Amino acid sequence: MTASRILVIGSANIDLVAHAPHCVRPGESLIGRAFETVCGGKGANQAVAAARLGASTYFAGCVGNDAFGEMQRRSLAEAGVDVSHLKSHPNKPTGTALICVADDGQNSIVVVPSANLELRPADIDAVGALFAEMDAVLLQLEIPLDTVQAALDMARRYGVVSILDAGPAQAVPEAIVRAADVVSPNETEAEAMTGITVDSIEHAREAAEALSDLGAREVVIKLGAQGALYHGHETFHVPAFRVSPVDTTAAGDAFTAALALNWRSLPRREALRVANAVGALATTAAGAQPSMPTRDAVERFLMDAQQ
Ligand code: RIB
Repeated sequence: MTASRILVIGSANIDLVAHAPHCVRPGESLIGRAFETVCGGKGANQAVAAARLGASTYFAGCVGNDAFGEMQRRSLAEAGVDVSHLKSHPNKPTGTALICVADDGQNSIVVVPSANLELRPADIDAVGALFAEMDAVLLQLEIPLDTVQAALDMARRYGVVSILDAGPAQAVPEAIVRAADVVSPNETEAEAMTGITVDSIEHAREAAEALSDLGAREVVIKLGAQGALYHGHETFHVPAFRVSPVDTTAAGDAFTAALALNWRSLPRREALRVANAVGALATTAAGAQPSMPTRDAVERFLMDAQQ
């Protein structure tokens, strides 16, 4: 793992998490066994993950002027993330995510973005000077798409690598796909972008090719327990590490943060292998930000995996 400077631009939510035997089905009422209020949001999760992995990390986002916003600001700062570009909106509440975590570790999530939608393109202009100093800029899709576009364009202008975590699942304008240096969806996000159901490594390869046809330069598809697929100047699959998951929430965020950290310094195959390790470790603890592993934990895990 290498030292880097990472700017994360994205969402910050508070996750309202119910632990239940399975994810609730339409029309079903279910008795849960525990409830937790946890810091989450794809952007903030990725910032916490990058900081725990040793990157100098900067976060630009928007929370509400409320207790949840304070909780999020504290969590980011405690992880060592620079929060000087985290806005507090006077009227809009902090974003929330209603999450059900099933006993097998799988989850379902409904996000209510609220204040996250107040991160505007003008805010990207305000952090412009930071871009020049970064090794990578990391984005997701829980903030307005015109803000994502502005940030990707800014990254291109400054010649800094941009990585787009394409979550949550939605149709993404081609201009955004073209503007990112690396596009990284999971299976459902890849399907929303290409129409191809990604239920195998072969279908992931087809979806990656479809994303290239849309103008993506390099593609990394996150395949959960199947690992990850790279498509760019070559195409290859990197298998996952075997762990016993307790909560898969934010494992993709952990993966993408690790990818950003190592993108410039490691060969692609190795960057995906380390990202798989970070994602796997994140599934072994409950909660989004609390589950992000430290650099030491990842190095120990990789060492053990070699023996
Ligand atoms: O990727 C997991 C995250 O998605 C959760 O923390 C939730 O807040 C949603 O943004």
